[in-house]
Amino acid sequence: MLSYLLVLTVIVTAEAQRIQGEQKDGSCVCKLSSSIWAFPAVRFEGVQKQLQTCEENLIQFHKKIKDSNVQLPKMELTLKNIKTHLTRFEYLNSNGLYNTLHLQKLIEELDEIYYTARDAHKKSPSKQTNDLLKELNNARKDVENMYKNNIFNLETMKSRLRDLNNRVQTCKTIPEDFRSTCHQRIMSNISSPVVTKLNSISKSYISGAWGREAKRDSKERYWEHCLVSGHQHGNTIRMYNSYEDFMASKNYKDEYIASAYSHKNAVQGSGTILYDNTVFYQCYSTAEICSFNITTQATRRVQLAGAGINNKFPFCYYSCRDWTDIDLEADQDAVWVIYATEENHGNIVVSRLDPLSLNITHTWKTQLFKRSVTSTFMVCGVLYATRFVNTYQEEVFYAFDTTTGQEINTLSLPFEKVSAGIANLNYNPVDRRLYMYNDGYLLAYNTFN
Ligand SMILES: *[C@@H]1O[C@H](CO)[C@@H](O)[C@H](O)[C@H]1NC(C)=O
Ligand SMILES: *[C@@H]1O[C@H](CO)[C@@H](O)[C@H](O)[C@H]1NC(C)=O
Ligand SMILES: *[C@@H]1O[C@H](CO)[C@@H](O)[C@H](O)[C@H]1NC(C)=O
Repeated sequence: MLSYLLVLTVIVTAEAQRIQGEQKDGSCVCKLSSSIWAFPAVRFEGVQKQLQTCEENLIQFHKKIKDSNVQLPKMELTLKNIKTHLTRFEYLNSNGLYNTLHLQKLIEELDEIYYTARDAHKKSPSKQTNDLLKELNNARKDVENMYKNNIFNLETMKSRLRDLNNRVQTCKTIPEDFRSTCHQRIMSNISSPVVTKLNSISKSYISGAWGREAKRDSKERYWEHCLVSGHQHGNTIRMYNSYEDFMASKNYKDEYIASAYSHKNAVQGSGTILYDNTVFYQCYSTAEICSFNITTQATRRVQLAGAGINNKFPFCYYSCRDWTDIDLEADQDAVWVIYATEENHGNIVVSRLDPLSLNITHTWKTQLFKRSVTSTFMVCGVLYATRFVNTYQEEVFYAFDTTTGQEINTLSLPFEKVSAGIANLNYNPVDRRLYMYNDGYLLAYNTFN
């Protein structure tokens, strides 16, 4: 009985690369390592089978040596730990996230980023673009080696890819005046509310958006947009030609974005923004951005590839806020759209749109889970995210700078609100105010760099 016990060994080394379960003379030998989680996908099933054999043998041993005083329980525990880790891989495997096909997709993605970087380099060569191309070449070599050696860590590679993509996006030409007007980058303070007013229609309209025309050198005009039909859809926008009219809720004009709130050009969700007398919003029940030019009454639309809609990736920090999958923002001379995709694991993706053609010109991928924030806004190409502190306080806690690809997780800029829920938060580059739709209340704040 004791001899059986001696054959049963568990070796843990930090260096060993993979797990081996081996049946030997009716006993089980398991070599374990702390870095086995990098094992290749195609071997997943094999490893699992070996583990199972190991476990079965362990149980048999257990039966045989029941009465002796041995270290078996400890070994079982180790085995259990490994199985817990394996469960994670099993999930990835069964969800198609961890297989050789994915490797192929990785290469395609890498190639796409490479071509974008090469174009950026051709247009305006710099040390930055040159370094990027070198790194991309190395990354491609690494993926090829993964094929050959059949070993890789998908998560590490994905994260590297995301970083490379963000840097390429930043290298792509952005209009000259885009950066110059934004030299002072990260926001440092938010004032007490300088405007607090109930929306002009009804306290029951708890979802919507409001703000001021965001285009530079435009007339001072205010707008108000409330969602009806279960706080989901809208088809009108209320326009005011002055601050006084807005505060008095008079002399407004209701513009029709669509003929009915169930029309295909109607608004879905509270991510709406007004820029250049044009309403930008999520089109009715689709992953598309619509723009409605009030001057010309023309509607355009563009597909937002992979964007989660219909409460797949809403803002959720405290409790989920329905119909907040897609958030539009305007700053200086661009329109931005904030959303999440499955491909980026539900983390926030930021795209920059050309407001006239509605073409998507840039796309950055953050590591911020969209459901873990209350709301977002953009200032000078920097994405800010807020979280719920309590009913009367909110806090900016995160920033992502699209010009550097850097994420800042250490911000703490508190600001007051009058109610718990935030349907929309947007920054206006003209008056540098932050506009909030707060459960039917319209609030605005001054911001400081
Ligand atoms: C932020 O603004 C508030 C209100 O204007 C002021 O009392 C406070 O001192 C400011 N804080 C910083 C760090 O500037
Ligand atoms: C809206 O239409 C007006 C008039 O044609 C034009 O000047 C403006 O640039 C348009 N704006 C957008 C964002 O399409
Ligand atoms: C917008 O995209 C279309 C199709 O890709 C392209 O033909 C057009 O030139 C683009 N327009 C601008 C202003 O970038």
